[in-house]
Amino acid sequence: MIKIVTIVGARPQFIKAAAVSRCLRNEFADRVTEILVHTGQHYDDNMSTVFFEELDIPHPKYNLEISGGHHGAMTGRMLEAVERVLLEEKPDWVLIYGDTNSTLAGALAAAKLHIPVAHVEAGLRSFNMRMPEEINRIVADRLSTLLFCPTSAAVANLANEGVSAGVESVGDVMFDVALFYRERARKQSAALASLGLVEGAFALATCHRAENTDDPDRLGEIVTALAEISASLPVVLPIHPRTRKLLADSGLDKKLGNVKVVDPVPFLDMVALEQAAKVILTDSGGVQKEAFFYGVPCITMRDETEWVETVDLGWNRLVGASAMAIDKAFQDSMQGKLPPLAKSPYGDGNAARHIVSRIVQSSDQSSAIGGRT
Ligand code: UD1
Ligand code: UDP
Repeated sequence: MIKIVTIVGARPQFIKAAAVSRCLRNEFADRVTEILVHTGQHYDDNMSTVFFEELDIPHPKYNLEISGGHHGAMTGRMLEAVERVLLEEKPDWVLIYGDTNSTLAGALAAAKLHIPVAHVEAGLRSFNMRMPEEINRIVADRLSTLLFCPTSAAVANLANEGVSAGVESVGDVMFDVALFYRERARKQSAALASLGLVEGAFALATCHRAENTDDPDRLGEIVTALAEISASLPVVLPIHPRTRKLLADSGLDKKLGNVKVVDPVPFLDMVALEQAAKVILTDSGGVQKEAFFYGVPCITMRDETEWVETVDLGWNRLVGASAMAIDKAFQDSMQGKLPPLAKSPYGDGNAARHIVSRIVQSSDQSSAIGGRT
């Protein structure tokens, strides 16, 4: 049996891991065992437990209960605790997702123990080294044996850094997830009714990225823009706990106009809201792509994006954090129609299967030559 230790900690990682974990259980149970480690980075019920329950993710064998603090402290505590788990479990592979501090800690702990790392969402770059995520993903990629790229842009980014060994273009697990849950969400979620929203007649907004929330000017501009939009169209803002706190601390929460601020919503509700929205405004990586998957115009309140295809194809407007630019993009997106999409740049919807197959194949090859991967 191939033993994989999967490290997750933040909301988007639970969602991505759900796809791979389901594939492992349904299609590879005779070849692979998976041990889930939750670092504890996200810990509120509505940021963590609800995803495990709704997406049918196995209960983590370990919850390290590490959250908060500065980056170094959080990552350092995770590194120590993940290392302990790896020494105990002695896995054949460590599987990591995305670009959070949990990703970085998992990659570092494994690499130092000479355990091969498989990185899902490898090769993404914003080329902004001030983003903690950019640092995390560059280091994680450098330490990984298998680099699972969601897009051809990600493959090209790695090639530009001279990395080709172990690079696999598998598509995006978030696309797998979207295909799996889109109908289910429409049928099962009561979010529209409970929030008093009408299909096609509201804007959905999210904001949590450090570069926006930690900068009072940028956060102020975003608040101004959302408040202005809420004067003409209902705006619902499922709010990340980080943003709730920073809005309250700065008093900006009083300036949100008619914006309907709600707690973070469970995944099926989010997917239902995304599909029903007239427009989505966000700084989230995952939400940008979900807007794209569901054919909803997206306004990205950042200066750069890793998901360049959404912009190149004309479905995503990258506007930074100026109220004027956000408002202009909003007006434009009310009029414009989305250009037709010939083929998804995010793979064939079977990214999870490609990932697990490749890990199994790589393990088979290394046992055939009598060594470790
Ligand atoms: C993290 C990731 C980011 C990812 C995001 C997904 C890093 C560096 N950042 O950002 O890449 O896009 O998750 O949502 O890893 N908090 C709570 N309850 C929770 C979780 C967080 O109250 O369940 C609050 C705490 O005050 C915490 C703050 O939010 O200190 C920030 O959480 P943290 O995990 O450090 O960063 P995120 O902004 O969530
Ligand atoms: N999401 C959710 N409920 C919310 C907000 C987001 O289920 O209230 C989902 C969203 O659909 C997407 C993922 O969380 O799949 C994105 O996570 P987030 O924006 O926190 O992180 P990022 O993708 O930017 O790293």
